[in-house]
Amino acid sequence: MSLESLLAWIPDGHPDQHLAREVSIDRLPAHVAIIMDGNGRWAAGRHLPRVEGHRAGIEAVRSTVETAARLGIRVLTLYAFSRENWKRPPTEVSTLMRLLKRYLRSELNALLRNDIRFNVIGRTDHLAGDIIDELSATTAATGGNQGMVVNLALNYGGRAEIVDAARRAIEAGVAPDELDEQRFAAFLYTAGQPDPDLLIRTSGEMRVSNFLLWQIAYAEIYVTDTYWPDFRRQHLLEAILAYQKRERRYGGISPSREAAGAR
Ligand code: FPP
Repeated sequence: MSLESLLAWIPDGHPDQHLAREVSIDRLPAHVAIIMDGNGRWAAGRHLPRVEGHRAGIEAVRSTVETAARLGIRVLTLYAFSRENWKRPPTEVSTLMRLLKRYLRSELNALLRNDIRFNVIGRTDHLAGDIIDELSATTAATGGNQGMVVNLALNYGGRAEIVDAARRAIEAGVAPDELDEQRFAAFLYTAGQPDPDLLIRTSGEMRVSNFLLWQIAYAEIYVTDTYWPDFRRQHLLEAILAYQKRERRYGGISPSREAAGAR
């Protein structure tokens, strides 16, 4: 996919075309991770039940996935359900699971059309059998796609992922003196994928919430006040443009300060 593919999808004269043209296509984040937050507040602001916020959030997922795929992002990870989310009222949890199932069925064609490979991360064996079957069917159906990978984080926790990776490393017989950061990362759910360059959180909260703890070590964090159900192509493009203005130093000093002899 490419900028042309994105531009072709945006109606002529739409302000998003201007935003899209500002993006430097050769400096895209390889991996964008999103904490989709604010569904409940979006609904409360409209005097609607919380679940209506989740329902409305599906359209944001659709728009974000298609924008990222057309732009040429390699990996998009969406935090859909944390291990802590089981503490929510049972009706909310069951609605989220029902929405997930419906999303997987209704979006399969769009995933195939956009060459997207669907993947799930988290302790998914703890999910209900029918959800596991639906997830496996979507993963298998899109397994041959070569474009963007969408990781859906379900029953996901960053600390649990690190514990699971440690267990797998032990099971694989890795000796303690053979274990380094690179070797360890190969046991994470995201093995083989680039780490997120950009972590987006909606609804203004300044928290990481146990999301991709290992992988976001050097991610640029972008927080928007927009509630997730209102998040669209425009907001993703704005986040990417903000990311492209950042100077990434990875603990070193910036090239401009280096040139000026700064210490
Ligand atoms: C956080 O908002 C959002 C969630 C816990 C669930 C995210 C789910 C969706 C966007 C819909 C389903 C997704 C897919 C991929 C089918 P919140 O409820 O914590 O909002 P609040 O902080 O305003 O209460």
